[in-house]
Amino acid sequence: MGGDDGSGEDVVTHPARPILRLDEAVVNRIAAGEIIHRPANALKELIENSLDAGATLIHITLKEGGLKWLQIRDNGSGIRPGDLPLLCERFATSKLRDFDDLSAMTTFGFRGEALASISFVSASMSVVTKTKQDPLAYKAFYTSGALAPPKPGQSSEPKPCAGSDGTILTAEDLFYNVPQRRRALKSAAEEYNRALDIAAKYALHYGSRGVGFVCKKSGSNATDLSTPSSSATQTMDTIRLLHGTSVARELVHLEPKRNAPLGFTVAGYISGANWSAKRTTFLCFINHRLVDCSALKRSFETLYSAMLPKGGHPWIYLSLEIDPAKVDVNVHPTKREVHFLNEDEIVETVCTYAQDALAGANSTRTFQFTQSILPGATQPGASSTSAQAGPSGAASMRPPAATSQNPQYQVRVDAKTRTLPSMFSQNPNVRQDATSSDPIRVDGEAGDEGNETTVATTSSARFRVDESPCTLSSVLSLRSAIHKQRHGALTDILQNHTFVGVVDLDRGLSLFQHGTKLYLANHDDFIEEAAYQLCLRQFGSVKRTRLDPPLGLEELVRLGVEIEAPRGEGELEELTGGMGRAELVRKITDHLAERGEMLGEYFSLDVRSSGDGEEVAGATIHAIPCLIPGQSDALPAENLPSLLVRLALNVDWDDEQGCFDGFARELGAAHRLGPLALVAGAQHNGAEEASATAMASAEDRVAHLWFPYFAAKRGGFLPPKQLVKPPVVRGAEQQPPAALVQLASLNELYRIFERC
Ligand SMILES: Nc1ncnc2c1ncn2[C@@H]1O[C@H](COP(=O)(O)OP(=O)(O)OP(=O)(O)O)[C@@H](O)[C@H]1O
Ligand SMILES: [Mg+2]
Repeated sequence: MGGDDGSGEDVVTHPARPILRLDEAVVNRIAAGEIIHRPANALKELIENSLDAGATLIHITLKEGGLKWLQIRDNGSGIRPGDLPLLCERFATSKLRDFDDLSAMTTFGFRGEALASISFVSASMSVVTKTKQDPLAYKAFYTSGALAPPKPGQSSEPKPCAGSDGTILTAEDLFYNVPQRRRALKSAAEEYNRALDIAAKYALHYGSRGVGFVCKKSGSNATDLSTPSSSATQTMDTIRLLHGTSVARELVHLEPKRNAPLGFTVAGYISGANWSAKRTTFLCFINHRLVDCSALKRSFETLYSAMLPKGGHPWIYLSLEIDPAKVDVNVHPTKREVHFLNEDEIVETVCTYAQDALAGANSTRTFQFTQSILPGATQPGASSTSAQAGPSGAASMRPPAATSQNPQYQVRVDAKTRTLPSMFSQNPNVRQDATSSDPIRVDGEAGDEGNETTVATTSSARFRVDESPCTLSSVLSLRSAIHKQRHGALTDILQNHTFVGVVDLDRGLSLFQHGTKLYLANHDDFIEEAAYQLCLRQFGSVKRTRLDPPLGLEELVRLGVEIEAPRGEGELEELTGGMGRAELVRKITDHLAERGEMLGEYFSLDVRSSGDGEEVAGATIHAIPCLIPGQSDALPAENLPSLLVRLALNVDWDDEQGCFDGFARELGAAHRLGPLALVAGAQHNGAEEASATAMASAEDRVAHLWFPYFAAKRGGFLPPKQLVKPPVVRGAEQQPPAALVQLASLNELYRIFERC
């Protein structure tokens, strides 16, 4: 182009510029930008790498939505130390050998570009990895596709270190060198949600394939995603856990169906006519790869538009398995799309299957209606449908339950509909919060939409207890043991349970229900363990319950010795090495008073000496620990004397970890509501009436404090495996019973009663 401005000089505004080869670093960074757009893309690649490595547990930790710090830990095959120099090199892979392999890919990865790309756009990337065969783990740092020294001047060779089988990959400061990309990204919260969404989708698909996922923000103990790593997990369990029961109960199962001529199999869950949301949820996996199959999504939306009210959208989860030879996975830099042969026919056939399944489910639309009624008039059918009435009196009209739900799956999901005491008790002291004439409610009828889980879980939200910051390795190691011991399936059961009632307070037995199963639990064992965890979780920041006026320490210890040793002087002497009762009381009082400062600071047991430190005789207790904030009666006050004596006698005060563990164990045991509390309470109140009140209040704590706490989803109880399977006691004639047993399953009972 050029022009003449009349000056007689030729002005060339766009001169031809020479073509030069781009610097390799620039090429790599541009290519990396195509693959990694945002933290969620990086996470998807890393999850897929972990799955390719056969991991069954994947832990994800993100800081600032993954932009500052993105870490993924898996228990997969690990990387051989000799392969570490090539790990982040572009086009270096262990999965593809020649081009033809692309037509039969069974792994997610094939290009050897993902890690390279992450290393090009992050300030630093590190890997700690260990294979089963290697005795040691190796740690290596990378920048721009190659090994890098951890600090300037150091060697960049991978270094042996301690570690468990699997891989931990950490990327820091994503897009630090692409400022325009960083600016274009949404807030850290939005990026976190996108990453969490990817993890949750894989967690759903892989839940039934035995892979568990955990995702949380760095520095927080609360997990935002936690699915069990168990081969017993059913897809429906994971859907319920991640998407809630309100959608789960409206889903229709697409049974796996093979279409031989087109060479594909489809399975999944799709919402029925009674589910409608503002946006479509569409999870589509093709050969286990999460993809956006827009053709399939559009067809499903068309299918549902005829069925749902205007503006209503479905929930769809589909898993298609297509012969790998017919799928081209190499069509999109983020592998978000795949092409497959006979796409139109396959989409159409899948939609037909879905239509058949929906027709077979015999779903009927639920209509919402609002009717103004005159003041004083009763809503027609109010007694039986009261649970469905919305705040404005809107009731949802459903077909009679029996037509849509098999009776063996009709379960009570609201702890208030019928409680155990309401069936038996004439005891005025037992709190009756049941409308006992209420019929047993069908799962599908529970509450409004969005009110996803049972009453137990709704009220449990207030019981969230966060971990206190702590750098003591002894406490951290005790906390990590708690996490390791967690029983995944039991956590899920407790989080979604419906409380039935206390059966036997003396033996600490309660009933609760989960789905169609009825469980008998030793609630005291559960409480003891939960209180132990709460003590360690809040180490150094436990809330206090003030005692006003303060109680005399020696007096309490004397009482404690009486309760703990009702066996007569002879036996007691043996126990205390010949020490008399009075001397024992004195010793324990001194022991605790001397450690007053530490007890107060770490555990909020506020013991103060009256004098200058030497004088402990007048020591008093000003506050006791309150493990669940706001629930000052969680620790039965009548257990305090015993607790003091046991702390002094049973805790190993010389070893830091042993001391913290021992204290937490004793504090846990003091929270039991069984005979310990009742005997003491009854003795000192000295009246039957008082004992009945103590019983009612203990029952109250089980039902309204501990079980709702067990259902708390975040910052709640992590039930250890030994509650289900107690450790074997060698040589013992009778092994300790498990704290939890399944008593009945409604479907099995139904089979029996059906014949009667
Ligand atoms: N979590 C992991 N566990 C074991 N090996 C891994 C892990 N992550 C990566 N690798 C190894 O590193 C190699 C490079 O990974 P990268 O993701 O860059 O490429 P890829 O998975 O082979 O292909 P793609 O770029 O398509 O993802 C992999 O081929 C694999 O051998
Ligand atoms: Mg990969």
